[in-house]
Amino acid sequence: MADLTTQYLGLTLKNPLIAGSSGMSDSLQGVRAFADAGVGAVVLRSLFEEEILLDLETSKRKLAANAFIYPESLEFYEDTEHHKETTTSYLDLIEDAKKAVNIPVIASINCVSASQWTYFPKRLQEAGADAIELNLFVMPSDFRRSAEDNENQYFAILDEVLKNVSIPVSLKISPYFSNLGQMAHRFAERGAKGLVLFNRFYNPDFDIDDLTFNNTHVLSTPADMVNTIRWTAILSGKMKCDLAASTGVHNGEALVKMLLAGSDAVQAVSTFYKNGAGYATQMIKELNDWMDAKRYKTIDEFRGMMSQAHVANPAAYERVQFMKYFRGFSK
Ligand SMILES: Cc1cc2nc3c(=O)[nH]c(=O)nc-3n(C[C@H](O)[C@H](O)[C@H](O)COP(=O)(O)O)c2cc1C
Repeated sequence: MADLTTQYLGLTLKNPLIAGSSGMSDSLQGVRAFADAGVGAVVLRSLFEEEILLDLETSKRKLAANAFIYPESLEFYEDTEHHKETTTSYLDLIEDAKKAVNIPVIASINCVSASQWTYFPKRLQEAGADAIELNLFVMPSDFRRSAEDNENQYFAILDEVLKNVSIPVSLKISPYFSNLGQMAHRFAERGAKGLVLFNRFYNPDFDIDDLTFNNTHVLSTPADMVNTIRWTAILSGKMKCDLAASTGVHNGEALVKMLLAGSDAVQAVSTFYKNGAGYATQMIKELNDWMDAKRYKTIDEFRGMMSQAHVANPAAYERVQFMKYFRGFSK
């Protein structure tokens, strides 16, 4: 049996497979199922910035209804116990999960602005979260805003959250930056302890007969992992923070590939929707069997062997327009 332990965000994971953020980790039962299957860590489903703000508003309204409290004094209460509802359930889940399982539990927030919600990560820390993953995406659909305006929005959110917590913070980012490598470096320099490459969006599609939107592409396919392989391989060994590969990892082979590309940890979601949380056991076994067959005793012995810094042909990760594929391809 090989030693699968790995370091991610300063945490020691017993193996590099992480159950990524999803509805499957939105309950104690779900978290337990992943822990029982042997994953190295679990990311809870994301709490949305809007949910935190909504609870804040509800608390304010309740307080305003109290004759002894003047609306002007409400700011004082923003950081008190008065936030119930969704946020409280989320904090309860962290506390319960920490008691029930002995793997790191990573909280997740889906956010787009550095507004009033940024006091809340401290609550996640107090509830016992081992780290916080920020699922960040600023849709660049407002054409009056420059790329720099949008980039600064990411930095503002990260800075605000880092101000409030001492546990590690990672960013789950998209590949849609005009200068992805530089942004990744700037996130790490500002204090992000890890980058999750990449998040996957709800993408609108519609039916051509009844012209209604549908949800057809929620789960990924194994083919979706290629962009993650490329960028993990390009960034690996050059970053001041950890990398977690995510998207399209559906089996043990893909898990091995991401480690060879240079990721510190690997997240999976869609494969668990398809095969159940218990499938993690099989993926970890496949990693272990592959290491035994190759006689690797630790993950560090092969991590990054296929990263851009280590392969004989680094251009393989940068060439995107191959004449021979475009002209000579046949099935
Ligand atoms: C049903 C479903 C729910 C998800 N919920 C979240 C979420 O709450 N927060 C988040 O950051 N990502 C969420 N994701 C995205 C996954 O964490 C992951 O980034 C994405 O599915 C790509 O990984 P995969 O190819 O292994 O599925 C969700 C994905 C699915 C399929």
